[in-house]
Amino acid sequence: MSRSAVLSAPASYDAGDFHFHGSAATSEHLLALEGMPRIEIERMIEAGVRHRERARRRQFTDTLRGRSVCLAFFEDSTRTRTSFELAARRVGAEVVTLFPQGSSMSKGETLLDTMQTVVAMQVDVAVVRHRSAGAAAYLARHLDAGVVNAGDGAHEHPTQGLLDLLTLHDVWRGRFEGRRLAIVGDLAHSRVARSAIHGLRAFGVSVIAAGPPSLAPRDFATLGCTLAESVEEAMVGADAVMPLRVQFERMDRSLAPSPRQYARDWGVTRERVALMKHGAVVMHPGPFNRDVEIASDVVDGARSVIARQVENGAAIRCAVLERCVAARDARLDPLLDSEPVERLHAFDTPALVRYGGLAS
Ligand code: NCD
Repeated sequence: MSRSAVLSAPASYDAGDFHFHGSAATSEHLLALEGMPRIEIERMIEAGVRHRERARRRQFTDTLRGRSVCLAFFEDSTRTRTSFELAARRVGAEVVTLFPQGSSMSKGETLLDTMQTVVAMQVDVAVVRHRSAGAAAYLARHLDAGVVNAGDGAHEHPTQGLLDLLTLHDVWRGRFEGRRLAIVGDLAHSRVARSAIHGLRAFGVSVIAAGPPSLAPRDFATLGCTLAESVEEAMVGADAVMPLRVQFERMDRSLAPSPRQYARDWGVTRERVALMKHGAVVMHPGPFNRDVEIASDVVDGARSVIARQVENGAAIRCAVLERCVAARDARLDPLLDSEPVERLHAFDTPALVRYGGLAS
């Protein structure tokens, strides 16, 4: 595995310079936003902004050249998987996708054995989506690789939370304090809502959530948000709204209102958008059901920042993958975390060759 990019990168290399700031990369995993300090989130947002600018100029980096990322999605996904794949390629990593349907899991192999097999092929980061809450954390404890949670049951979806924060950072020009986000819909099954709440709380944003009683458990408020009784109550005076899809696949369908009834009682419509503050925006994690949780004209309307969320998703995932690898490098070889010049003196010749330090 070549680490030449690490040692040969000039100190001024923007965004790629994370290797030279040991404290910037504190964990080789990204499992949740709950409890994550604001400073860490800010670093990822800053790096995400740089990656987005590069992507717009079609100027990608090779900070993860020689590294491999495995996408292991045990649940369906369009935007999250595509965006992780693009992100990994845009920072120069190799990408391998594990398709659970066609894997040995259908022959009875456990999740851990399957993932250990993939990681044994020198995979550096495993990006995992699984229907069970805690699956990513479990793998992180046992795999010799960085693990990124791409959604675990109804627990968390941290990269979605980060891309939502980056989007709100853009819209609010970095001023989060005193802002209010309304989250409306299927709270019970939403990992997106949980990550958003944890991330936004770190920035002093208040969240007011609402949903049909069968999908809005009272204890949801213990996450640190306020529960409203109606969509109107949640949205009036808000700075942004995030409607959530009703996750029919995760529930007994009899608990869910019909799509028509749902749209009438809880749908984010143009009239309801008008209740928010002037300039307030409409988000949606996707996939969206037009004219159910969100009216079609709102999806395509001037207040919608849904496309920007998607763009930001790819950018923030570049930052997340770099962070995981940097932290892993620092753990595996603490010398890589010190000054480059000191490192060169500390290495013996074979190590220098191994890490590309002698390349002239
Ligand atoms: C969400 C998910 O899978 O958690 N989508 C996403 O990742 N952007 C939300 C959903 O499925 O409704």
